[in-house]
Amino acid sequence: MEASAKSASRGIFDSANAEARERVAALLQKAYWMEIETVMSYIAASVNLDGVRAQEIKESLSEDVEEELGHARRFAERIKELYGVVPGSEGFAAEQSFLQPPAEQTDIVHVIRGVIEAETGAIEHYTRIVEETDGVDPVTQDMTIEILHDEQGHRRLFEGFLREYEAEGIA
Ligand SMILES: [Fe+2]
Ligand SMILES: [Fe+2]
Repeated sequence: MEASAKSASRGIFDSANAEARERVAALLQKAYWMEIETVMSYIAASVNLDGVRAQEIKESLSEDVEEELGHARRFAERIKELYGVVPGSEGFAAEQSFLQPPAEQTDIVHVIRGVIEAETGAIEHYTRIVEETDGVDPVTQDMTIEILHDEQGHRRLFEGFLREYEAEGIA
């Protein structure tokens, strides 16, 4: 009785939770790749866009690159702490078809919509991690909630940018 109580206190590191630990590590791997791809897409967009009106978007994306990179690092460190292995580059498969460079580099609306879609995807996946870690791994859950908060802020900002273009009939 005492022994089981003691081992249960190890939470996600308890041997009985090995399966949950592997499942959480796999979810974190996907999150890690999402962040890495977002870094690639945001660097490209922050450089590619042309025009006076693009400046605000470019600056915002440049700042986001640093934040998304920080997220990737946090997910990587947590994978390691859960005894997983941070994947090598050959495990990467691109998914952000919607964030490829537009035909015209003045097409700001294309980029804004792409960013909203990327952030929405992150929000959905991180919400799933929060749900799956509930009562199982509060440390991963806490960390993911913080990152989820950042993504909600990013999406809200770009929704505001889109609204401006919609109001002018450009989007
Ligand atoms: Fe992120
Ligand atoms: Fe983000």
